[in-house]
Amino acid sequence: MCGIIGYTGQRPAGPILIEGLRRLEYRGYDSAGIALFDDRDGLFVQRAAGKVDQLVSRLEGTLPPASAGIGHTRWATHGGATDANAHPHLDPSGRVAVVHNGIIENFESLQRPYRQRGIRFMSETDTEVLAYLVADELARGLDLAEAVRAVIGMSEGAYSLVVITKDEPGRIVAARVGNAGGIVLGHNEDEKFIASDLAALLPHTRNVTFLEPGEVADITAEAVRYTDLEGMPLMKAIEVQSYDPVAAVKGRFKHFMLKEIHEQPVGTLDMIRGRYRLDPPSVDLDDMPFSAEQVRAFTRVVLIGMGTSMHSAMVGRHYIERFARIPAEVDNAAEFTYRRPVLDEHTLVISVSQSGETVDLLAAMEEARAAGCPQLTVCNVPGAQTTRVADATIYMRMGPEIAVASTKTMMASIIAIHAVALWLGRMRGTLDSSLEREQVEAAQHLPAAIGEALLLEPQIAQVARKYAQAEHFLFLGRGWAYPIAMEGALKLKEVSYIHAEGYPAGEMKHGPIALIDEHMPTVALALRDELHDKMRSNIEQLKARRGPVVAVVSQGDETLNGVADDVIELPEIEAALSPLVALVVMQLLAYYIALERGADIDQPRNLAKTVTVE
Ligand code: F6R
Repeated sequence: MCGIIGYTGQRPAGPILIEGLRRLEYRGYDSAGIALFDDRDGLFVQRAAGKVDQLVSRLEGTLPPASAGIGHTRWATHGGATDANAHPHLDPSGRVAVVHNGIIENFESLQRPYRQRGIRFMSETDTEVLAYLVADELARGLDLAEAVRAVIGMSEGAYSLVVITKDEPGRIVAARVGNAGGIVLGHNEDEKFIASDLAALLPHTRNVTFLEPGEVADITAEAVRYTDLEGMPLMKAIEVQSYDPVAAVKGRFKHFMLKEIHEQPVGTLDMIRGRYRLDPPSVDLDDMPFSAEQVRAFTRVVLIGMGTSMHSAMVGRHYIERFARIPAEVDNAAEFTYRRPVLDEHTLVISVSQSGETVDLLAAMEEARAAGCPQLTVCNVPGAQTTRVADATIYMRMGPEIAVASTKTMMASIIAIHAVALWLGRMRGTLDSSLEREQVEAAQHLPAAIGEALLLEPQIAQVARKYAQAEHFLFLGRGWAYPIAMEGALKLKEVSYIHAEGYPAGEMKHGPIALIDEHMPTVALALRDELHDKMRSNIEQLKARRGPVVAVVSQGDETLNGVADDVIELPEIEAALSPLVALVVMQLLAYYIALERGADIDQPRNLAKTVTVE
């Protein structure tokens, strides 16, 4: 949600902020704006509803030669996507400019005294009042950092905030309050950068510092001073990042989504490299901080995530139960937190998050931490907040994921949990060595199998053309293919805006079948596993009601030829890993249907890549 960028240094700030906004745009793209220190007028501010391009055309030729400023790309929470609601927000005298990510829960009561004095707000946002409050604190004689801390003291919620005042050109104060929205600072000798995430900084520097919740940074081109919310000085180290910024370029692909789908064979190879060992067959997660005794004492595994990451967790649950033989359950993180789950120090909590910033997940992790649960997190973004809360992290090693719809990181997170399940099974002595060998060997074949699945692209594009005008879709799967069906439906909804439902196939007869007619296609995952025959019966039932069926089957399975309308045959892979190969088909199908419909594939309406509000 919302991207924040800031720069103070010696170079023209405007182009740096605009380029940063473009890199952050995937976080939110309903409006954008910048504020720059301007010698003549104090602060130069420009904002525009719509994407960063709208802002750029509005700026045409007007950028002042400022060497510091802040910018914002918005995902609306309070007030629609309008020029007036776009950030930065100013106080009435134009002395203070503020950008903000997250929610100020008590903004109405903060606004009340101003309204009572007849002062009007120019926007419907929860942000604007912060500029008014900071300006008032400055007028009382506080300096900028003190004023920001004072205003944080009055505000309720979880958010990050970046503030400038025209009185002090080149000085920027950034703060992080609670778990919503990260702030990372970039350091070069005579220039500093501020951003919501690393991807926006890496073209400029690899020397970074992450703000933790409750920290304030007082930034000039030469130095950064850190304090807590009470103003007590803090020491923070600079970390050197090795994340690859070049990976965030679209290259020969029309969309990031397609590029990221195509990155999966190599990404998978990176995931298994050094973790799956053939001689002897084993999974090496030696950096896990849990003792053998602790692992043997686990009585339960709870997997949590949101959206696509929850679907990964759902596949992972099968692995944990099958390979480690530990009772496992999956929860939507937002539900988990608020139903007062029963947890203890023998419950291993595995959280999954591409961004590592999803606020619902962070709240769930806090709940688990308070209950003393050991925690392992699967994350793609180095240094993200989830990795700071969990005891251990398995990185997805997938490089930046820019398309708002997740693809390659789902692949990586499922592999991560597969590895954890094998590791737990070995540590607990519950994994049969032949099963271990089978799975480790199968994992070695996975990158090639995913590469072969990509060769199905022309066939999938053809199927997509055939069904692109359908208004509703059903996706069915059983066992570990059920979460893949859910994901197929989610991906299609997100990028093509077609209504789609993902169901466990056994549930079909308990309601969804009422929807079936010749206009409602079903994508049926009929993988070769112990549930194949049952899946076949479900497909027959759909056909008996004239429902078009696209069957996704394992290599060499001819049993559905002549039954299903279209059959997509997956490359050979061991059954437990077949959901991963089927996932590629789901992703490509959603992509090509969206392409047919002319949708905005990388930035679908209403969505944001990183969800930092509840
Ligand atoms: C779907 C999608 C979302 C995310 C969800 C969780 O394509 O991207 O459903 O999976 O918002 O985000 P992370 O994984 O960053 O916690």
